[in-house]
Amino acid sequence: MKPDPKTVRVELGDRSYDILIGPGLLADAGRAIATRLKGSRLAVITDDQVGRFYLEPLTTSLEAEGKQVFPLTLPAGEKTKSFEPLMAVTDHILASKIERNDAVIALGGGVIGDLAGFAAGIARRGTRFIQVPTSLLAQVDSSVGGKTGINSRHGKNLIGVFHQPDLVLADTSVLDTLSPREFRAGYAEVAKYGLIDKPDFFEWLEKNWQEIFAGGPARIEAIAISCQAKADVVAKDEREGGLRALLNLGHTFGHALEAATEYNSERLVHGEGVAIGMVLAHEFSARMNLSSYDLAKRVEKHLAEVGLPTRMQDIPGELPPAEVLLEAITQDKKVKSGKLTFILTRGLGQSFIANDVPPSEVLSFLREKRG
Ligand SMILES: NC(=O)c1ccc[n+]([C@@H]2O[C@H](COP(=O)([O-])OP(=O)(O)OC[C@H]3O[C@@H](n4cnc5c(N)ncnc54)[C@H](O)[C@@H]3O)[C@@H](O)[C@H]2O)c1
Ligand SMILES: [Zn+2]
Repeated sequence: MKPDPKTVRVELGDRSYDILIGPGLLADAGRAIATRLKGSRLAVITDDQVGRFYLEPLTTSLEAEGKQVFPLTLPAGEKTKSFEPLMAVTDHILASKIERNDAVIALGGGVIGDLAGFAAGIARRGTRFIQVPTSLLAQVDSSVGGKTGINSRHGKNLIGVFHQPDLVLADTSVLDTLSPREFRAGYAEVAKYGLIDKPDFFEWLEKNWQEIFAGGPARIEAIAISCQAKADVVAKDEREGGLRALLNLGHTFGHALEAATEYNSERLVHGEGVAIGMVLAHEFSARMNLSSYDLAKRVEKHLAEVGLPTRMQDIPGELPPAEVLLEAITQDKKVKSGKLTFILTRGLGQSFIANDVPPSEVLSFLREKRG
């Protein structure tokens, strides 16, 4: 018999919602949705890679509950987070006559979740929205918290709205078809929650990561703890007035590396940038005498062990000079009056928001690290 799914609740007053986590949830999606949603029309947005495996089982499960499904399949990849696909999705929502009690379902990774969530947020000034995240990154991060949007030529995620989902269904068995590289990239975000403020969780990951990769109870546990961690932060700071910034651990360096590799996923995917970024954040903290180099080594050892890149030198191809990397960091929105905001650490699982990091220190650090 299948175990009952785990439930994590995101507490946001009358916009609170459940995240259900467990194997085989896709086949039960119809029931989980029918108990929470009166409407009978559902626009399902997916990409061609995910749709190939999961559109049919999801549709079958929804139709078994008397729902009408209106699918739209888009090309897989980050380029789909742009205006033209956004128009296609909003048009599809309207053409499918999705009304107040109906919903838009995002079936896919963070790209589809961000795009479909944005479309749901603006179509008819906001339609109901259900996330069915299929990548590890989407299950532990992007499907929770209500940030939605697309990319602009000025940068990533610059156009969007906050639009919380009504339900998140994380079927942990669909991760079996995810490429090992994408699974590892999502794992970087799992480790991130330990490094932010859960030292015991990080220690548990060091011991149990192989089981998480293999599937089974440890995988479900790791995803549930990650979702709970994100839900706690989002409940306290939905719109990133302060605390939510902690979730950016490793991301300031990581985003700079993503920009430096022109978002070319053959060279670097987001979670890999975060892995290198988290090691850099720990090394930089040690350099600023906030924590130890031993801790930075420990973090690097674990991330390298699961097969993630941990150094700039691990990225294939040439990187731009340190000055250009710093430029990318200052372009990132976290700059206040000449000082940089970084998430740094005072020890294992003791991350904090540092608002007064001098750019000159970052530059000399980057020069050393880039080699
Ligand atoms: N909204 C947020 O809070 C938030 C947070 C973090 C990241 N993001 C965004 O999320 C995006 C990255 O998400 P991602 O890593 O899921 O990328 P993605 O959606 O591009 O998915 C990665 C690849 O895996 C494939 N895939 C997904 N699930 C699969 C499955 N079960 N089986 C086989 N293939 C599968 C996809 O088709 C795609 O090719 C970025 O655009 C990022 O900006 C948003
Ligand atoms: Zn991230």
